[in-house]
Amino acid sequence: MTSSGEFIAKISSFIGPIGLSAFALLGAVTFLNVYLKIFSAFSSLFILSGTNLRKFGPKGSWALITGASDGIGKEFSLQLAAKGFNVVLVSRTQSKLATLAQEIESKHSGIETKVLAMDFAKNDPLDYERLRALVKDLDLAILINNVGKSHNIPVPFLETAEKEMDEIITINVNGTLKVTQIVAPGMVSRKRGLILTMGSFGGLLPTPFLATYSGSKAFLQHWSTALGAELRRDGVQVQLVVGYLITSAMSKIRRPSMMIPTPKGFVKATLGKIGLKGTAAGMEGTITPYWSHGLMHWGVQELLGIWNGLVLNRNLGMHAGIRKRALRKREREAAQGKKIT
Ligand SMILES: NC(=O)c1ccc[n+]([C@@H]2O[C@H](COP(=O)([O-])OP(=O)(O)OC[C@H]3O[C@@H](n4cnc5c(N)ncnc54)[C@H](OP(=O)(O)O)[C@@H]3O)[C@@H](O)[C@H]2O)c1
Ligand SMILES: *[C@@H]1O[C@H](CO)[C@@H](O)[C@H](O)[C@H]1NC(C)=O
Repeated sequence: MTSSGEFIAKISSFIGPIGLSAFALLGAVTFLNVYLKIFSAFSSLFILSGTNLRKFGPKGSWALITGASDGIGKEFSLQLAAKGFNVVLVSRTQSKLATLAQEIESKHSGIETKVLAMDFAKNDPLDYERLRALVKDLDLAILINNVGKSHNIPVPFLETAEKEMDEIITINVNGTLKVTQIVAPGMVSRKRGLILTMGSFGGLLPTPFLATYSGSKAFLQHWSTALGAELRRDGVQVQLVVGYLITSAMSKIRRPSMMIPTPKGFVKATLGKIGLKGTAAGMEGTITPYWSHGLMHWGVQELLGIWNGLVLNRNLGMHAGIRKRALRKREREAAQGKKIT
């Protein structure tokens, strides 16, 4: 048996001292790279705070939130109002909007609210004209593109109802593009603003049985990052926010856990981490702000890759399982004569 010293001596006589130094350098660079990535992820997720929201607009400026009346959008509305932004609340149901507006005004004196009930699935040009008129004279500092629709339950693409397919694209894609075109020009003229769009692990990782939703969120991922590069020189920051599961009506999960925050915890993390790309494994224009989601994003991306076949298969199995359980639940409820949701 040769000692390691002899082994190195043999190699070095084979590749020469220059080759050996090159290897050593390569090793050091690789090590430093991994070290810096881990350092960047941990400091972003656990220590650093993101851009102060005041940079986007003074007290009395406005934030517009779509899908504002429930879940994550409702939390954005409440927390932005608490930080001194007036809020424009947009979602489907007038009564829910009115209740939330009242709650915000009574909790935070001096904060103003405006509401607009519109159904993004209808894609009605009149609704967009109403929205344009509503925000025309406002100093809009923050836009939260939160409204979104997923499949009711995981479903094979070939069995997806046409209505569900159309609505997912119309709400997630058309709605986000149109609202942004209405709001962003004012931000550009004021040379400040934040455009934050809700992405998803479903868009980060190709997701079987949620194929249309997955594609729509992947669209937003690329669109948002591209837009961010365009608007940077105008002083407008654009961020895509990646979330894994969060308790809400959409996820149909009620109990929070380490991997599944409440909207409150998720939104708090988001508003505190604007601009920290270390949270999203270095992805430009993207944050995965909740700590456990951020660690998962980092692990998948750095250790396997988001387009890795093993990850895809695991995702396939996971969503096949969710579909099976959802179908069984439907059967049980049908047997009990409950309304099918
Ligand atoms: N929950 C998760 O696990 C999760 C994970 C990653 C990403 N996301 C994304 O986060 C965003 C918000 O999801 P969420 O879980 O908070 O959903 P949610 O609890 O179901 O709330 C949806 C909100 O959007 C409104 N809305 C729904 N359809 C609408 C339409 N056609 N037109 C106008 N408003 C509409 C709802 O208004 P009404 O109450 O009046 O219907 C409600 O205020 C979505 O973009 C979703 O893709 C969610
Ligand atoms: C969504 O936008 C595309 C491109 O502008 C358009 O062709 C399509 O008709 C829109 N979808 C709906 C349902 O309006």
